[in-house]
Amino acid sequence: NLFPDRANSAGMDLASEAVLAGLGDALRATAGETWRAEPMIPGLENERTARALRNPADHADVVGHAAFALPRDAQFAATVAASVAQAWAATPIDDRAACLTRAADAMEAAMPRLMGLAMREAGKSAANAIAEVREAVDFLRYYAVQARTTLAGTQPIGPVVCISPWNFPLAIFTGQVAAALVAGNPVLAKPAEETPLIAAEAVRILHDAGVPPKVLQLVPGAGDVGGALVAAPQTAGVMFTGSTEVAKIIQRELAKRIAPDGSPITLIAETGGQNAMIVDSSALAEQVVADVVASAFDSAGQRCSALRVLCLQDDIADRQLAMIRGALHELRIGNTDRLCTDIGPVITAEARDTIETHVAAMAAAGCGVERLALPPETAKGTFVAPTIIEIDDMAQLGREVFGPVLHVVRFARRDLFKLVDAINATGYGLTFGLHTRLDDTVRGVTRRIAVGNVYVNRNTIGAVVGVQPFGGCGLSGTGPKAGGPLYLSRLVRGGCAVDLP
Ligand code: NAD
Ligand code: ALA
Repeated sequence: NLFPDRANSAGMDLASEAVLAGLGDALRATAGETWRAEPMIPGLENERTARALRNPADHADVVGHAAFALPRDAQFAATVAASVAQAWAATPIDDRAACLTRAADAMEAAMPRLMGLAMREAGKSAANAIAEVREAVDFLRYYAVQARTTLAGTQPIGPVVCISPWNFPLAIFTGQVAAALVAGNPVLAKPAEETPLIAAEAVRILHDAGVPPKVLQLVPGAGDVGGALVAAPQTAGVMFTGSTEVAKIIQRELAKRIAPDGSPITLIAETGGQNAMIVDSSALAEQVVADVVASAFDSAGQRCSALRVLCLQDDIADRQLAMIRGALHELRIGNTDRLCTDIGPVITAEARDTIETHVAAMAAAGCGVERLALPPETAKGTFVAPTIIEIDDMAQLGREVFGPVLHVVRFARRDLFKLVDAINATGYGLTFGLHTRLDDTVRGVTRRIAVGNVYVNRNTIGAVVGVQPFGGCGLSGTGPKAGGPLYLSRLVRGGCAVDLP
């Protein structure tokens, strides 16, 4: 821990009846609330038409209404951001950091309301919604401490565009925005079109905590609005988390331009993965079951860190797969308004169709496909049955499938390092898991694998801010890792001094 005066936020004991009862009451109190998001661009007077946003677990539940900005509003907002860049850069680091810590306290105090919103807008389970709010709070506090420790004497880069995905609609949105702000940059924040409501709530909290409205603007909209923000001449940096395909589009756009001060434009891109886990015959079979189920199916597989391909040593594969199948039948799938739900919906009908098309194509190609039955209530929303697909080799994988689909490949012990090379050959490099009790295997495999986050004898999800800095290489991202000591360094000119242990 480079910043010892810092602690991550506390969780909730969901095994306690009293905690569950209190949480249930708090969530019921927010169940009928409708939320609102609209452009927060000072001086922009045009009224925009609002659209209804529905709970992906239950389409009858209207969570709120969002008015989107138009691409031409992006240019207006970029001009506003540039007009306050000098004043925000001149604001003492301590004052900027204090805004983050006040916002962290406010978010922590608003935990049940924010959880309720994350569950309804993004289809998060209760446990995932708790983690979502905690991660946002942790990012705020971590970057505040890091700024005070490392930013003295640095100059910000200028207006930064933050573009985020729907799968961590509060945590990633807040993490990007907090880092850019505390480094002294005005921010144009473009949340995912699926989840603008919780992003608007985060912006309100940061404004109330002291960040001036012209320094942090919310520019909700779809990809065209993101593209317009990236293309605005005032933009000096882009922080993007989302698909590899969109990261490439943004990089091509930025390659045509230079920043207002003449330098190349900063791009931090955190993208997708084709994440693998290798399990050899020495692994603890029961631990493997728990870690595989969590890694592949938690959040309905909608994590960039999620396990996509499980590589089982051939002599234990049948037994290990039978145990995993058994555990899958224990999962509770359905509406996330119940605190005990394990697996919720996928985000949209389009996402569901993309996943179903992949499963059908693999079945047509002759792969063994096994699926859980979905309970009848899932017809109210967009659900995908947890699925296991046996494939012959890594080359059959193709691009990232963002849902509850686990591919399984068998390998012979003598081919272990060929397998590691095949995993590297996908070009992605985000997370990797290894289950073994052989020290030599740990050393050999972890040295050879080319990914950002390696997890040994545990699951591959839920990186903790300040403890497991998170980010990938190759098709999975540019670095630096979020929630790590080098992140703010990319948001100031020339970087900052960090004493690594
Ligand atoms: P996406 O790429 O479709 O969208 C991400 C964001 O980019 C959204 O806000 C979207 O509106 C915007 N966008 C789309 N087209 C754009 C364009 N042309 N110019 C500018 N912005 C544009 O991704 P998604 O479906 O929202 O999220 C899922 C993806 O995110 C998965 O691939 C997942 O692996 C990845 N992800 C990565 C990380 C990480 O830390 N590496 C974390 C979470 C999610
Ligand atoms: N940071 C998130 C995880 O580790 C994406 O699951």
